[in-house]
Amino acid sequence: MATFRNIVVLTGAGISAESGLKTFRAEDGLWEDHPVEEVATPEGFARDPDLVQRFYDERRAQVLAAQPNAAHEALGRLDREFGGELLIVTQNFDDLHTRGGAERVLHMHGEALSAWCTACDARHPWRGTLRDGPPCPSCGAAAMRPDIVWFGEMPYQMDRIFASLSAADLFVSIGTSGAVYPAAGFVQAASDTGSRTLELNLERSAGSHRFDETRLGPASELVPEWVDAVLGE
Ligand code: APR
Repeated sequence: MATFRNIVVLTGAGISAESGLKTFRAEDGLWEDHPVEEVATPEGFARDPDLVQRFYDERRAQVLAAQPNAAHEALGRLDREFGGELLIVTQNFDDLHTRGGAERVLHMHGEALSAWCTACDARHPWRGTLRDGPPCPSCGAAAMRPDIVWFGEMPYQMDRIFASLSAADLFVSIGTSGAVYPAAGFVQAASDTGSRTLELNLERSAGSHRFDETRLGPASELVPEWVDAVLGE
């Protein structure tokens, strides 16, 4: 395996599946029995804020009850021991990368354990519920929403992500269906600027044909193997 100096990793719901957190598209686009449009769009929130708040209150509780799996812990080891540049871009809103020991993590779709005040724009670490309209610690308004990027909203730190992709010499996609842009376009941006591209996924994805190499299997097996090979260099 070549020696890499600058790695960008993209993760999706599949890396947290073995921690017991559901993926999005296992059951034809339903998510915990809700159409995604109902609970993951600003329109859905405007239509029924209580439903959406309760939905994310349940996701937040599930995240807190989940544990990092061997894949998260392997990426934590990579973060600690790899001497080059590393950025882990995750589409997931759980905190399992951080609890698995990774520090260079970017949550492009927001975080379940963060609340966003729509009155003063402040963001706060949040482990409780939002359904009862708690006051914003900064401004006191009862106007906090889940700090999750919904469909139709702009993912976070896109400039930083594309700058990292163009500088990378290896792009690794883990546990994502390649169904949702802009993340689904990262492999093309990486390969256009000379990166090798590797996909680790349970099954072939919508983007598999764009990768130099695809390995199929559970993340808890494929990711530790891959990290051992990278660090073994
Ligand atoms: N190991 C590796 N991959 C797995 C595992 C596993 N144990 N279990 C499932 N997968 C794979 C599936 O084969 C699938 O390709 O993970 C992928 C999960 O795909 P999705 O459910 O579409 O999740 P994701 O790709 O993260 O969705 C992207 O869509 O709904 C939006 O904002 C939401 O961030 C999400 C985005």
